[in-house]
Amino acid sequence: MSYTRELISKTKKESPVELRLETSQLIDLTTECLIIGVPDTDSVEPTRTELDTLIVELIESGDFKPSNGSTLVLRLQNSLSAKRLVLLGLGKPENFDALAQNEAFSGLGKLLRGLPITDAALHLKSLSNQANSPLGRLGYCIEWAQYEYTATKSKKDNKGKPEKQLATLAILGTEKQKDEVFNGIILGQGANLTRELGNLPANICTPRYLADQAVQLADRFPKLSCEVFDEDALREIGMHCLLSVSQGSEEPARFIILNYQGAKDVSSKPKVLVGKGVTFDTGGISIKGSAGMDEMKYDMCGAATVMGCMQTISEMDVDANIIGVIAAAENMPSGKATKPGDVVTTLSGKTVEILNTDAEGRLVLCDALTYVERFEPKAVIDIATLTGACLIALGRHNSGLLSTDDALADELIKIGRETGDPCWRLPIEAPYQKLLDSNFADIANIGGRDAGATTAACFLARFTEKYRWAHLDIAGTAWFSGGKAKGASGRPVPLLVSWLIK
Ligand code: BES
Ligand code: MN
Ligand code: ZN
Repeated sequence: MSYTRELISKTKKESPVELRLETSQLIDLTTECLIIGVPDTDSVEPTRTELDTLIVELIESGDFKPSNGSTLVLRLQNSLSAKRLVLLGLGKPENFDALAQNEAFSGLGKLLRGLPITDAALHLKSLSNQANSPLGRLGYCIEWAQYEYTATKSKKDNKGKPEKQLATLAILGTEKQKDEVFNGIILGQGANLTRELGNLPANICTPRYLADQAVQLADRFPKLSCEVFDEDALREIGMHCLLSVSQGSEEPARFIILNYQGAKDVSSKPKVLVGKGVTFDTGGISIKGSAGMDEMKYDMCGAATVMGCMQTISEMDVDANIIGVIAAAENMPSGKATKPGDVVTTLSGKTVEILNTDAEGRLVLCDALTYVERFEPKAVIDIATLTGACLIALGRHNSGLLSTDDALADELIKIGRETGDPCWRLPIEAPYQKLLDSNFADIANIGGRDAGATTAACFLARFTEKYRWAHLDIAGTAWFSGGKAKGASGRPVPLLVSWLIK
């Protein structure tokens, strides 16, 4: 383990961008970089300042087009105390929805990251007065752009990144606006934790590593505690279905419970998140093809999402009780591995015929879903890179949403739109359930080629009858696949944190 330990020490988190509230006049503001959002409106506002005049001139001359996401950097000589001016186009106000905001602010985040500055100031005038305030997303995108994967590189690969890094951001606005940006930055940090755990290779990020990280996370917050079950404990309580997945691996399974007790009313029932933590999915004896198999290190992104959410709500000191559980295992073929046709008994007592060892996500999740009944949850959401079929159906824009609770599903769809972290509902209805019939157990773990995302959710639904439940299939959204952009996305942390704090 010494090799692994050495690498782990490099994954310490970097400190986030710090915020301050700025009260001085625009003209007197000393900063390396003043950022101004410019919406594309027909009626140019009556000019009040030299700066307004400059912006109007730049637009009229065609030097700057205020379309969404466009940017212009100018070095200033003597008109202001600021050294640089960055104009950020915001497009037509009526089109400035969460997705457009994400696009504009990601562009700004990238730009700021590339500039040799340590301090910037945000002029918020053009960004306020929005029904669905974009300031949280602004903070989120700036923090998101600061992340870089370096953990297993011997030299820091700078990718043209300057020595100087953005450390402080001044907000020219109100205390409330500053808080909104700040919460976005905290959310961005949470998503960056999710991304880092996702990106780490499977020889480092094992079930035991996830458990270690969860314990360390809990150590940082007095309201957060962590409990970890090893394989002996899992056998004792009867989580044999989870154990059937780790059975072929040298890496033992772990079941991790992160319990955040922040509600003033201590008897308040918790919202519960359940994450799939398959730290590598070879498929087991039903082995996968080798092309692109490396991406199955991302099969623990549900677990990483739980970690990112728990860090965020702890950092925000949310007034609620929230529990995050992680079912972690490595799915490997070996002489000890589960074989197609094996029958195992789940924690619920139901038996499962494992017809395909590559449909392992539902096997680790079902025991976790039964376990969380004891918390008498307000609602449970599980998050899993569960099916290739979901990716085929929805692509990489929407997460799959499957739920037996219409109100909960509607709520998540709405929040998804508002946060720019969308999900799309797929059916989960009684007629699909018979696809899981087995001749040799209570239920089979696969339902054939048809409706793959639905039959996977139907399997889970057999274990969620005691509470309100929704399932997010993030097979298409948890990471950017292949090529240069390959890397974890941090989704659906924004969607879930919004749901948790509502
Ligand atoms: N982790 C995979 C699903 C997956 C595949 C996510 C590709 C993202 C990209 C899951 O464990 C799996 O292998 N599912 C099988 C289920 C099948 C055997 C019923 C699948 O989707 O092929
Ligand atoms: Mn699989
Ligand atoms: Zn899997």
